[in-house]
Amino acid sequence: MPGQTPPEFDKSFQEKLDSLLRWRRDVRRFRRDPLPDGTLEALVERACLAPSVGNSQPWRFVRVRDGARRATVRAEFERANADALAAQAPEDRTTYTRLKLAGLDRAPEQIAVFCDESTAAGRGLGRRTMPETLRYSAVGAVFALWLAARARGIGVGWVSILEPARMNAILDAPAEWTFVAYLCVGYPEIEDDAPELERAGWQARDERAARILDR
Ligand SMILES: Cc1cc2nc3c(=O)[nH]c(=O)nc-3n(C[C@H](O)[C@H](O)[C@H](O)COP(=O)(O)O)c2cc1C
Repeated sequence: MPGQTPPEFDKSFQEKLDSLLRWRRDVRRFRRDPLPDGTLEALVERACLAPSVGNSQPWRFVRVRDGARRATVRAEFERANADALAAQAPEDRTTYTRLKLAGLDRAPEQIAVFCDESTAAGRGLGRRTMPETLRYSAVGAVFALWLAARARGIGVGWVSILEPARMNAILDAPAEWTFVAYLCVGYPEIEDDAPELERAGWQARDERAARILDR
């Protein structure tokens, strides 16, 4: 098969991409302004450019606009967050209560991402020994959406303090879909190049994360 000529990703593009990676942020404080029409659809389209095991494309998106459902998600977060607080070590609880762990109250767009465990797409390729690669693929799509959003000045906040089975019920999602992520999407109120949890003194960069072992 003959190849095609790719665009040139020159030095200036590489530097911009580095900044995008550095400035991507989990956003929990949003302005209320809506996204321009078609923006969410454009972001989902970019998410679908993510790699997937066997080209299975198992990600499924649910845009949550209904006020009653949003309120139920919010209540589910409050419930799960109270449980999470109770599970923290006593000395961490005060700091934990100060953290802002979701932008559910203001984000103009909310989108749930699921992984369709029942998809026949990809015909099982690559997932016999590692069925979890289907879910990894859905996470790749979340990351692609996140970067595409940031490149447009839009912030994304991932909320996982939620009970997956309840999320399927609240959003009326098929049982074969595994809940992967709940994303708040909108324009950030505050910009910073350091993670909010780092700034809040919860977790600094972990030097082990960048270490490469030689074997
Ligand atoms: C799988 C996953 C789940 C996350 N869940 C939450 C969450 O429930 N609440 C929250 O505030 N942040 C959540 N985050 C965001 C992380 O806290 C954030 O990525 C981390 O603190 C690093 O900050 P940064 O994304 O700004 O670099 C999640 C991130 C990932 C990748």
